Amino acid sequence: MRVLLVGAKGVLGSEITRLLQPAHEVISASRTGADVAVDLSDKASIVAMFDRVDTVGAVVCVGGTAKFTPIDALTDDAYAFSLANKLMGQVNLVRCAAGHVDTGGSVTLTSGTLAQQPMIGSAAVSIVNAGIEGFARVAALEWQGKMRVNVVSPGWVAETLTSMGKDPAQGISAADVAMVYKRAIEGTMSGEVLLAAKA
Ligand SMILES: NC(=O)c1ccc[n+]([C@@H]2O[C@H](COP(=O)([O-])OP(=O)(O)OC[C@H]3O[C@@H](n4cnc5c(N)ncnc54)[C@H](OP(=O)(O)O)[C@@H]3O)[C@@H](O)[C@H]2O)c1
Repeated sequence: MRVLLVGAKGVLGSEITRLLQPAHEVISASRTGADVAVDLSDKASIVAMFDRVDTVGAVVCVGGTAKFTPIDALTDDAYAFSLANKLMGQVNLVRCAAGHVDTGGSVTLTSGTLAQQPMIGSAAVSIVNAGIEGFARVAALEWQGKMRVNVVSPGWVAETLTSMGKDPAQGISAADVAMVYKRAIEGTMSGEVLLAAKA
């Protein structure tokens, strides 16, 4: 299957690529250094990406960011950045994917457990993650029989905790999270939020 992977060079994207590549053709996408350039915050660049890759069996998004800042310090610009990037970027990815995904193929988005388990500073991220899950459930309904839409919700990833100077034992490995994306791509489910967190 041809798989378009947005955010392919990141912590999760690298592991998903490693896991999928023996069986699938992975087309990497991100703002820099990938097969295809895309900026999720710019809808025109998403349209241009799909024009370039044409048709795929699956689209996976592990790209896009949101600001992690306590509410008192969260500016209008920080809210706007977060909504335009990780939330509307992924919403627009699904909208633009219609017509470029094989019948029965899938789009798999990424939220995160901060949607349900907030932390101080997670307001913008929690809004974005919850919004992605809400949108995906509706998109799955409306495109039933055409395109499957699911979300993977990762908990803290061990490699990310290490890079933050925190204890990686509190997180799930990127390799284990990658297996959940593989399940979403190769399975038949739609409208689901698949949890990928340390038990
Ligand atoms: N790691 C964790 O602990 C964790 C936990 C919960 C949820 N998540 C979520 O999982 C996803 C991936 O996390 P990660 O740790 O793998 O992130 P990462 O290592 O920072 O990688 C993100 C990737 O996305 C690309 N990207 C960022 N903004 C983009 C944009 N506007 N348009 C296109 N590409 C963009 C980046 O490449 P360029 O800069 O070249 O574009 C990079 O390849 C994120 O949505 C994150 O919120 C992560």
